[in-house]
Amino acid sequence: MIADGATLDLEVLLRGERAEVERALERACAWLAEELPDDLFQPARHAVLSGGKRLRPILCVVAHRACGGGTGPAAYDLGAAIELIHAYSLMHDDLPCMDDADLRRGQPTPHTLYGEANTARAGLALIPAASLWALRAATDLGLGATASRAIVIELNRASGAGGMVGGQALDLLGEGQSLDSNQLDRLHGMKTGALLTASLMIGGIAAGATAGTLAGLESFGRGIGLAFQVTDDILDATEVAADLGKHPSDSRLAKSTYVTLYGLNEAAEKARKLVEEATGALRDAQIDAPALIALASYIVEREK
Ligand code: IPE
Ligand code: IPE
Ligand code: MG
Ligand code: MG
Ligand code: MG
Repeated sequence: MIADGATLDLEVLLRGERAEVERALERACAWLAEELPDDLFQPARHAVLSGGKRLRPILCVVAHRACGGGTGPAAYDLGAAIELIHAYSLMHDDLPCMDDADLRRGQPTPHTLYGEANTARAGLALIPAASLWALRAATDLGLGATASRAIVIELNRASGAGGMVGGQALDLLGEGQSLDSNQLDRLHGMKTGALLTASLMIGGIAAGATAGTLAGLESFGRGIGLAFQVTDDILDATEVAADLGKHPSDSRLAKSTYVTLYGLNEAAEKARKLVEEATGALRDAQIDAPALIALASYIVEREK
């Protein structure tokens, strides 16, 4: 299932991890089917099971393993809790009142299939569901109250007004504006970087990582989180919807992006530099994790 060490093959790693993550998301959906009324479950299920790179749960389980954690299903359930938040963030991001997108992961967006009101509500229902699912996974991992609490705090901090939701608000306010590099770093760090960083931290906390190791994971996460959004902006400007599976929309919406601020070449250079710094932070913290380094490269080299 896992390729690690010197011979690490990124494709093999991604394939193996994605298969486990999909199984965990199926388990989460089986639970959601009991928890939610059908008119909310249908859009939620569509958003959760419509594919995607599954980067957040993969970062979580890989960090967990790098910190000495195991590879059983409960670790993937923990990663799946983070993906529930990500799925909700995409459902809302695509709504007409936000980015007004009708294509996501090569499929119609949930609100075009199930309506705006039920998609908005289903997204909201995933927020508490993610915390409950994370708690269940923490219990299954045999974690005590302190670690379980830290995981739920981390997940909610990264998702809320100081993280993803706050970043999305700044993103909307930034339409038609020209933000400077500090403002853009802050916006993108919040809307995208926070949840990616939390994915690593949650994996580390679940494995009982030391404060020093968690700090190393946090620095690494900040770097790859920003690099991830820089790359998202580049792909939006350079790829067509048929390849990307979503409508490139930043220019239509007059978004403030790294491409508008720096141009394509400089933005790509910035992403590469961020990844270099991020892997340096891992080394400084003496975290020996070839899989995390491979995932960092993937973040800037991916084609969608
Ligand atoms: C898209 O995230 C939204 C951003 C944070 C840029 P991903 O690029 O991780 O989306 P999926 O899950 O792979 O579809
Ligand atoms: C969305 O950023 C980030 C989220 C928190 C969902 P984008 O609006 O750039 O994401 P895409 O390009 O639609 O996937
Ligand atoms: Mg958006
Ligand atoms: Mg969008
Ligand atoms: Mg984008």
